[in-house]
Parts: sequence; C-alpha cells; structure tokens
Amino acid sequence: MQRTFDTFSIPKDLHITEARAGETHIYVTWSDGHKSSYSWHFLHPGAHSAAKPMTDVVPVLWNAREINLREPRSIKYAQVMDSEAGVARLTMNIRTLGFSFVTDTPYEDPNDTKRLLERIAFIRQTHYGGFYDFQPDLAMADTAYTNLALAPHTDNTYFTEPAGLQAFHCLAHEPPKGQADAPGGDSLLVDGFKAARMLAEQDPDAVGILSNVPIPWHASGNEGITIGPDKLYPVLEFHRRELHRIRWNNDDRGVVPISELGTGKSVEAWYEAARKWDQILRSQEMQYQFKLTPGTVLIFDNWRVLHGRTAFEGIRRICGGYINRDDFISRFRNTNYGHESSVERILR
Ligand SMILES: [Fe+2]
Repeated sequence: MQRTFDTFSIPKDLHITEARAGETHIYVTWSDGHKSSYSWHFLHPGAHSAAKPMTDVVPVLWNAREINLREPRSIKYAQVMDSEAGVARLTMNIRTLGFSFVTDTPYEDPNDTKRLLERIAFIRQTHYGGFYDFQPDLAMADTAYTNLALAPHTDNTYFTEPAGLQAFHCLAHEPPKGQADAPGGDSLLVDGFKAARMLAEQDPDAVGILSNVPIPWHASGNEGITIGPDKLYPVLEFHRRELHRIRWNNDDRGVVPISELGTGKSVEAWYEAARKWDQILRSQEMQYQFKLTPGTVLIFDNWRVLHGRTAFEGIRRICGGYINRDDFISRFRNTNYGHESSVERILR
C-alpha cells in the first residue's frame, strides 16, 4: 500500500478542471488530464485532525482495590493459541488494563510460553538474549537475577525504545533444601498512569519536574556493554497532555544533570518530586500483589505498568521475553479492528 507516483512530478500550477459529486465519492479531473476520486469520508475535516488519538482505547486506571474488582483480567491459553479472537481479547486486555494473565498454559516445556508470546509478535533480542528461561544465579549481573526484593520499576530504561511488552511465567518455585515451603516471590504491579494522576493531585509541580527534567539511564554491568538511550529522557513522557510513557528504575538511573534543570529549579526539587513518586509506587494502596504459579503467564505494558517482586527463598525458574511496542500495537489493531480500518487509523 505504498504511494506509486512521484508527488513532485505533479505541476505546481495544477488546478481542477471538472468535479462531479457522487453518492460516496467526488470525481475530479485535473488540468494536466489526470483523474482522481475521493470518498466523502476521506474529505471529512475531522478525519485529518492531527490531534486525533492513535487508538480508540481509553485506559482503565486502577489501584490495588480497583483491579481486584475488575474482570476479566485473564484469558485461557488455548483461546489465544487457537483463534485470532483470542489474540484480540488478550491484546485488548493489555491495552485497557495494562496487563493480562494467560491461564492454563503448559509449564513442562518453556517453548509453549515462547509460542504464546509469538502469537502477539516475535520476541525481541537484547544483550540478555531473546526468550529467556533462567534461575537466579547472577549470570547476567543484574538485580533481576538475584532473590532480592525489587521495587516497582519499568524495564529497559536504558534503551532508546524500551520494550513495549514484558512477560513472566514462573515455571517452578522449589523450597530451599530441608524446608517444606518456598516463601516469598510475590509479584507486584502498579498502574503507573494512575500513580501519575495521584501525584498530579498531590503536587502538580512534581509532575512538571519529572516530565521536564531529562535523566541519563544506563546498563553497564556486563563486560563490554555500555548501553544508554540516544538522548536523556524524563521519567514521565507526555504527548499532547496525555501521559505516554513511564521510564523508572532507580537502580539504572544516572546522575541528575544540574545543567538540564533550567532556571529556578534545583536538584533538590527533582529529588523531592522523585521521592513523592516513589512513595506512591511503594504504597499498599497502589500495589496489586499476587503469586505467579506455574500455568499462569503475566504479560504487561512496560510503558505504563511498573513491576516488582518481594524477596524469596528457594529456587525460582522464570521464563519470558520482550515484545516491541510497534509490533504489539499492530497486532492489537489488526485483530480488533481488521486491516482496512487499521490502515485508516494510522494513515492520517
Ligand atoms: Fe524488571
């Protein structure tokens, strides 16, 4: 569906010599002899508005109490694997709530989880690899590979384009030697869009600082690897006054750059804003906490929902992978709206 003529070969003084209005289209003959037709729908002024949203989905914001009341949060593995309608429901869940569970997933072989993710799109390769299946052994020099508690964060703050989706499947959690139970390891999710709204209610200036001060982020723990984004990015990125993307992992944050703060702002003000943001993210009110068990896959929007976990004992085997934002949204659009309508949505 690419343009098949050279726009700039059209004479500059082109004008209409004849126009005829039909029921669905208007038919135009131009001064150089070529003919065009345009649907009335195409010519509708609103159809070209640069301000129209990229998708029709209005996110449903939640805190811990609200998400526990909200259904459906899950879809069955077989539905996603066997039908496009299943993929449509899964991706719609992720678009509206920021995440979805996929239940009844086989867990003997991690390849079944890989195939599930590939129903959305191909898995992204990073310096950690592609589809992963790991036990905490610090092999990759990252806190994710330990058994420590992890505060709510987004992944890939250090990439120019952080992964759109992240997925976890806990294949096993075995107790430590000599113990009957395998304690800890609860997962937690926070709706970052809801958290930002709360911060705006408490302290609008804090949102201003977190969205205006660009911050360096990095991944440098592995020999020979020094990754940072193409430019500095703020914690909160807005697009036409709508919150668009959250980038937050205090462990991967660089130094708050004094030179970027501008007049009238202090480093202390950034830390004060970040402290308030962090407090909201860590509050019981905001943290949706649950234990992932074999068979239930969690897939979430890494640009909106922050994830973390409690400390744990024993051996935990987790598999999962990243999916690019653009490929996820393309699949979401095509399964929910069809190809023609999806093209309409992005062309203008
Ligand atoms: Fe993470």
